Amino acid sequence: MHPSFEYLLLCDIDNTLTGDDAALRTLMTLLKEKRGHIGFGVATGRSIESTAQILGTLGIDRVDVSITAVGSEIYYDDGSLLDEEWRAHIDHAWRRETVIESLSSIEGVYLQAHPLAQRAHKASFVLDDARRMGAVERALDGTTVRYRAILSHGNYLDILPHRASKGLAIAHVAKRFGIADKKIIVAGDSENDRSMLEGPYLGILVANHEESLGDLKECYRAKTPFAGGVAEGLQWWGVL
Ligand code: GLC
Ligand code: MG
Repeated sequence: MHPSFEYLLLCDIDNTLTGDDAALRTLMTLLKEKRGHIGFGVATGRSIESTAQILGTLGIDRVDVSITAVGSEIYYDDGSLLDEEWRAHIDHAWRRETVIESLSSIEGVYLQAHPLAQRAHKASFVLDDARRMGAVERALDGTTVRYRAILSHGNYLDILPHRASKGLAIAHVAKRFGIADKKIIVAGDSENDRSMLEGPYLGILVANHEESLGDLKECYRAKTPFAGGVAEGLQWWGVL
């Protein structure tokens, strides 16, 4: 798999691509002009079904890679081809049923009700209070599951296999595409984007980011929110 483009831009969807329709249209027009130069993909907490739906609504076609369910699934060919190798790799020391069972009796921790939020390698919960994390980690540490816990906006909790995250999924894609780390641009706004914004990629933190990401050192902090921030970051990294 050796794509023709020089750069690959991977964007979170909610509140990174979305939030400012006019800015998104401008960004997409720009990317269309640079199609041979800059590949385009998404890295999102959404399922592939919900990703396809929102990209359709946003009028975005031709996506080179879709990293979905917080990095636990990777698809190529506009979302039709699942990366089975990645799926097998992240399955290591993962047991979804054990995760669900171990958190089921903790007060204030509820399974996300939307059926598409629950995936083979992603168990997602809602917390009534971020302070529930202590009890969550104690319960999970009492199992043999090797997990990664990501809390976004203080109340969306994703439990993933320890080998999965957006950042790790990107490393896998980079290898498959044969594309160097510094030719990959990533943009995001929330805690589930931290793993990709920490480096080694060219990171863009949009202005409307979750406060806790203020400690990120390696990425460019855009002054503009949403898709306008992505365009600003592309300029700053000298990609446009
Ligand atoms: C998306 C997913 C949800 C997840 C959240 C944070 O909204 O649908 O399941 O918890 O992102 O990653
Ligand atoms: Mg987001």
